[in-house]
Parts: sequence; C-alpha cells; structure tokens
Amino acid sequence: METNESKRILSMYQCTGTFTLGNYLGALRNHIKLQQEGYQCVYALADLHALTVRQVPAELRKYTKEAYAWLLAMGIDLEKTVFFIQSQVPEHSQLAWILNCYTQFGELSRMTQFKDKSAKHADNINGGLFTYPCLMAADILLYQADFVPVGADQKQHVEIARDIAERFNGIYGDTFTVPEPMIPQHGARVMSLQNPLSKMSKSDENQNGNISVLDDPDTILRKFKRAKTDSDSQVRFAEGKEGVNNLMGIYAAVTGKSYPEIEREFEGKGYGEFKPAVAEAVIEELRPIQERYRQIVADKAYLEQCYREQAPKASAIARRTLSKVMKKVGLVL
Ligand code: TRP
Repeated sequence: METNESKRILSMYQCTGTFTLGNYLGALRNHIKLQQEGYQCVYALADLHALTVRQVPAELRKYTKEAYAWLLAMGIDLEKTVFFIQSQVPEHSQLAWILNCYTQFGELSRMTQFKDKSAKHADNINGGLFTYPCLMAADILLYQADFVPVGADQKQHVEIARDIAERFNGIYGDTFTVPEPMIPQHGARVMSLQNPLSKMSKSDENQNGNISVLDDPDTILRKFKRAKTDSDSQVRFAEGKEGVNNLMGIYAAVTGKSYPEIEREFEGKGYGEFKPAVAEAVIEELRPIQERYRQIVADKAYLEQCYREQAPKASAIARRTLSKVMKKVGLVL
C-alpha cells in the first residue's frame, strides 16, 4: 500500500499583507498539519505573483519576511519541509517562460481570476496578470507535486497546470507528475465580519470585517463585538443567519465543537455572550503563535538564515525537472 510519505504536497501563499484569520483557519493551519501526516511538503511565498499588481517595494519586502516568520511560528518544520521565497529560486521564472510557450492565448483568456483582476485593475492589465497561471503551473510542476491544497478560487489554476502537464507529457513523453487539487476536509471558509456574504480578505475596505493574525486581543474583541448578526438573537445555524453562521464556523474551527454543541452552550444567552466567547477563543488560539512570531521577527539574523538556507534546497529539486525540460525542448544544457 502506498503511504503518504511517497506523496508530495505543494502550496504557495501570496504575501501582500498580513495573513487574516480566514487564511489561517481556511488554509495555513491545515497545511501545517499535513506535515504531521507524513507528506513531503514544499511551501513557499509567491512574491513573484505579487508583482502582477503594483506593490510598494518596501512593503512587499516587509510582508514577505513577516509571512515567512508567521509560518515558522506556526510550526513549519524546516527539517522536513522545504519552505522558501519564490523569487530566490530562479527555476520558477525559467520554467514559467517555457510553459508560456505551451499555453494558449485562448485558455489563459478564460481564467476567471484574470477576468476579475483585469476588471479590478483596469489601468494595469499587464502580461504577468495574463500569464500568472503559467508561473503557478511552473511552481507546481517543478516539484513533481502530487497534491495541491487549494480553495475553490484557485482550483481552476490547478486544472490548467494539469492541462499544461498532460500536453507537455503528450508531446515529449513523461516529464511532469500531473497534480491533483486537494480540497481540504476541515478548511473553514471564513467570511467578512461586516459582510458575511463575501470572503474575509486582507484587502477588505472595512478593516472591521477582517481579523489579522497579528491583531492584539483588544482589537479582536472589538471587531467580534461589532460583527454583523441579525435581529433573531438566537445562536443557531440557519439560512438567512449568515453573520451568526460565520461566527459559529469560526468558533467550531477553533474549539473543535460541533454546531449542535455550540447551540446548546449558548441556548438562551444571545449574541451579547456569544460574540465575546468567539473572540476569546480566537485570542487564545493565536496567542502562542503571536508570541513565537514576535521572537522570530526580533531575530532578523535567524530569519534570514532560514530563508537563505532553504532556497538552494528548493533549487536542487527544481533544477532536476528544469534540466529535463530544457533537454526535451531543445535548449543547450
Ligand atoms: N495563486 C495562489 C493564490 O493566490 C498562490 C500560488 C502561487 C499558489 N503559486 C502557487 C498556490 C502554487 C498553490 C500552488 O493563493
């Protein structure tokens, strides 16, 4: 029987701001657990992808380092997991160029993220935004990843990576592992606290809608107290109670309690007690990670040493795939 050990998981994260509680509960926390399930994990910060939208240089650099420190604080184990910064591993850009030449204008034009982002940034519809999926395919295919844990919004990108891999393998013979999207079993979908119909996002205009993983306890409490609910005042999971459903989802994800358990716990108590309880649970969940995070960011030399040592490890894996590809397409090695 095949074990997880023989399977490789790859994921990367945009680092254009501080992670939100949504990133944490929806993805990061589960990805850290996958390390303990024996998979071979490759994780990275997608700073090259960040350039498809205009960034303030000093901020991008700062957020990248902070995101690196946050994931270390969460328990990425550098003995087992390769964890690097995308731009420090040049094979990503190199393979991305080649894959650009094996991807059709038509298929890139159909990507929903491209359509959404070009509508949002109409003044900067650059080539990178268009070929973003080729860079992402390079990220995945370089490491011969079996699984890519992604949320619904990135599934189409994993699918195009599969198409690119299959096409290339069809022309040149087996070169790439064809990756599968891995839809998380316990990934909570956390919505904005102010508009529970839209996903919690760091770019939310209303900062009360999102919780940053670095928010202090007072801020977290205040934001939860202001969370939009409804006039029913009963803590129960039901259609039309999206605000309360969202709070219940967060509370369930953090405490491990089921919805019926939560409904019983707050029976007859109303939102005045429920909201601070959710806040308290979140504060306690984040507290130890925030403490480790502060130690790590304070030790710049250690942080830098970590990402500098990881890049060549990633590069060694990526280089094997890139060399194969270069040979197959006729480049001189
Ligand atoms: N596009 C992903 C996002 O916005 C980030 C990403 C870049 C990624 N490369 C990847 C995710 C490779 C998974 C695999 O969230």
